[in-house]
Amino acid sequence: MLIVTFLGLRCLQEFGMIYNFGAGPAMLPAAVMQRIKDEFTDWEKGMSVLEANHRGDKFTHLAHMMRAKIGKLLAVPASHEILLVQGGARLQFAMLPLNFLQEKATYVISGYWSKLAAEEAAKHGNIALITNAKDMNYQDIPEINSALVDKGDYLHYVDNETIHGIEFTAPPIAGLPLAVDMTSSILTKSLDIALYDLVYASAQKNLGIAGFSLVIINKDLLERSLAPLSYLNYKTWHNSDSMYSTPATFSWFVADLMLDWLIEQGGVAKIEQINHKKATKLYQYIDSSDMYYNSITPAVRSRINIPFNLHNKNLNNKFLEAANENGLLQLRGHKMVGGMRASIYNAMPESGVDKLIEFMQLFEKQYT
Ligand SMILES: Cc1ncc(COP(=O)(O)O)c(C=O)c1O
Repeated sequence: MLIVTFLGLRCLQEFGMIYNFGAGPAMLPAAVMQRIKDEFTDWEKGMSVLEANHRGDKFTHLAHMMRAKIGKLLAVPASHEILLVQGGARLQFAMLPLNFLQEKATYVISGYWSKLAAEEAAKHGNIALITNAKDMNYQDIPEINSALVDKGDYLHYVDNETIHGIEFTAPPIAGLPLAVDMTSSILTKSLDIALYDLVYASAQKNLGIAGFSLVIINKDLLERSLAPLSYLNYKTWHNSDSMYSTPATFSWFVADLMLDWLIEQGGVAKIEQINHKKATKLYQYIDSSDMYYNSITPAVRSRINIPFNLHNKNLNNKFLEAANENGLLQLRGHKMVGGMRASIYNAMPESGVDKLIEFMQLFEKQYT
């Protein structure tokens, strides 16, 4: 029965009738799903990609091309290396201080994930926090006083707070190396990579499925990697072409398909415009409605993860049930903040946002 339901939903997705607003693992484009299906059992000489030798010609070519595509899509300058490190962004919370925290690092706290990253670093060394002590609800980015950020090993921040829905519009100005978590925003907007010393993002949002993290690191910083254990040192990953451990081959394969898909969409600048349009529509509707609200300071609202609440909390469950029945899935907000959250990564088509707005309007009409 469950299987029949599952297959039923998948078919609906192919016809564009269900939309997954989950924050990650996140929706994949139907075209990518189709390619996974087509190539799954016969990727090379009748072997599945799951069985492929990661040191074989075909897989090493995929790995090479994948990094070349990332390099092109993000205009990565020659000063930086692209690494694919096994594991999630939380491993980067640990690797960053293990490699580069000697005297003191500064962490900007703008939500749940930046707080966790700081807590992890504090286990290893001395850190300073830039935080809005009074704003523990995380509705804004704290003011970054340049006096706080001109000395130290690095400044860390989270570009897009996936749970709280807060996004930087530009990197903070700092006189020290910048390390940024772009787990939920990588490839959703154009970046000037030269401004950053280390960018990291786990894959399960805009790069396919979980299993590895993309790390883009300035070569000078890379050379200064300090971690004594090989697995945790960035140089190990660089020196082994990111294959120190057997790579998460299937995750790399899916990421490569995601990159092809993004190139077909017109690249990062084009998807950025589409993402802007999707987010603007949804915020405009939320702001104009009497039933819903978003409490983040407008200038720093995320374009990708859009939390919203119903003024009448008693209607939350009804809203989610009705949304599910209408093929609008995974809209429940993170348990830290409650309410709703629409994650509208690159793979979410504009039609998904239109359908969500239409549903929210009908729901509002019915319950006011
Ligand atoms: C901004 C951000 N950083 C870090 C993480 C943790 O990522 P992972 O589960 O890959 O360790 C997440 C997960 O959603 C995230 O959104």
